[in-house]
Amino acid sequence: MTITQKYFGQTALEYDAKRRQSRSWLTETGAVEDFFRTAAQSGPIRSVLDIPCGTGRWIPFFQDQDIDYTGVDVSQDMIAVARRSVREDDARNVRILEQDCFQYLPARQDEFDLVVSTRFLGWWHTETALSLIESLCAASKKFVIIHLRVHNNGFQVGFRRLVKWPKFVGRYGAAVFRSWKEGRLSFRQNVLDVESHPRKLVEDHIQALGWTILERVVTKRLVYANVEIWLLQKDEATC
Ligand SMILES: C[S@@+](CC[C@H](N)C(=O)[O-])C[C@H]1O[C@@H](n2cnc3c(N)ncnc32)[C@H](O)[C@@H]1O
Repeated sequence: MTITQKYFGQTALEYDAKRRQSRSWLTETGAVEDFFRTAAQSGPIRSVLDIPCGTGRWIPFFQDQDIDYTGVDVSQDMIAVARRSVREDDARNVRILEQDCFQYLPARQDEFDLVVSTRFLGWWHTETALSLIESLCAASKKFVIIHLRVHNNGFQVGFRRLVKWPKFVGRYGAAVFRSWKEGRLSFRQNVLDVESHPRKLVEDHIQALGWTILERVVTKRLVYANVEIWLLQKDEATC
């Protein structure tokens, strides 16, 4: 299974209830709202792209700000939940599209005042995550909010290597065992794993794109990485 196949059916229905009360979810919510206020200080934010929008966790907040909201997600089941969070009185400002971000993003250029991507970049290998960051920045005129796992130093890298493989082998073994118990023994299991990206590499990449990391909030501390949410601003010279 890949991240693109994971969020369907029961997983979509239970997504919010399983996360809504967690400390990291609440920290993310506070950070996105604060970042929005910071961004709005430099001029009006009239449009936002939320990709992937999932169950629409940011819809009520952006509807309150009275700005045009576009949400994109590949899962029709997540989108079905998201549609329920749209307030009917000004639903005309909200667009939700069922699309793969790798098809949607390349066609976007300076289209939105703000682009938000939460709980997504950590599911991709660093190379893909960097190219996604590039596409998110290209789609935005001014501001981007990204959410990612970054590791800082040799200790974290070493720790990650040490735990990653035993953990992976354990999960893989469990998946094979489950398939055997279900009477269809299969060794062709695809086990999802969360990625952490080297901080310096990501920072240099953002700088090379002509963007600055304006603010950062740590949403979770792990031994091998921090989960952080960043507000990026396009440099004057790039505008
Ligand atoms: C962990 S959820 C995050 C949702 C939301 N951003 C949040 O913070 O709760 C990951 C989402 O990515 C979506 N997704 C996975 N692969 C995708 C792709 N290639 N294009 C668009 N959405 C995708 C899934 O359907 C799921 O809704």
